[in-house]
Amino acid sequence: MLDNVLRLNYLEAMGIDVWMSRMPVPAVIDSDCLGTAANNGWDTLQTEVAGCTKCGLCETRTQTVFGTGNNKADWLLIGEAPGQHEDEQGKPFVGNAGQLLTEMLRAMGLTREEVFITNIIKCRPPRNRDPHVDEVESCFDYLQRQLAIIQPKIILAVGRIAAQTLLNTDLPLAKLRGKVHTLDDTPLVVVYHPAYLLRSLAEKRKAWQDLQLAMQTINKSEY
Ligand code: URA
Repeated sequence: MLDNVLRLNYLEAMGIDVWMSRMPVPAVIDSDCLGTAANNGWDTLQTEVAGCTKCGLCETRTQTVFGTGNNKADWLLIGEAPGQHEDEQGKPFVGNAGQLLTEMLRAMGLTREEVFITNIIKCRPPRNRDPHVDEVESCFDYLQRQLAIIQPKIILAVGRIAAQTLLNTDLPLAKLRGKVHTLDDTPLVVVYHPAYLLRSLAEKRKAWQDLQLAMQTINKSEY
């Protein structure tokens, strides 16, 4: 568990005025419980994604970005799509936004190794444009299979595109955040995209409220 001083530092790094919640920090998952990549078809799924040619993005990508973390995680974070750095490194959220996402997790007492982080689509759209409908449709089966294997206790939809896609709605993010939705019976909380937070410092307080809602939700599900 993070000590309070460290936690305060992370919150400060996010630009958040600090007050301490009395909520218990989610337990660190025992390393014995970490999923091995071979189980439940995870390996097969990873291989399928790596060789995917279901849409035109396979022609422009450097590599697919399957996701990283613990495939038995309680927390599943789903972003929009890989950007340039992710396409180069084959990992989700590795640029500046990724660093802020790591800080957001740390503020909740979590590490990237404890959660699973992926995207709605597994290949970078050229020039980071929004994913097209056919690209989302082609890729969605992979996400559903990841969800079925991981069986998380909570899903964080990171940013507007992820939230709208997962919840099948056109509502703006402001209307989607601040409440607990469900996806296939799993609670889903919408959070601001860290790239947006890097541009809109004023929203960081609301971002912390979203994270608190997520922590409250998972804590409730554990009783
Ligand atoms: N933005 C996303 O939504 N996903 C990434 O992996 C990186 C940036």
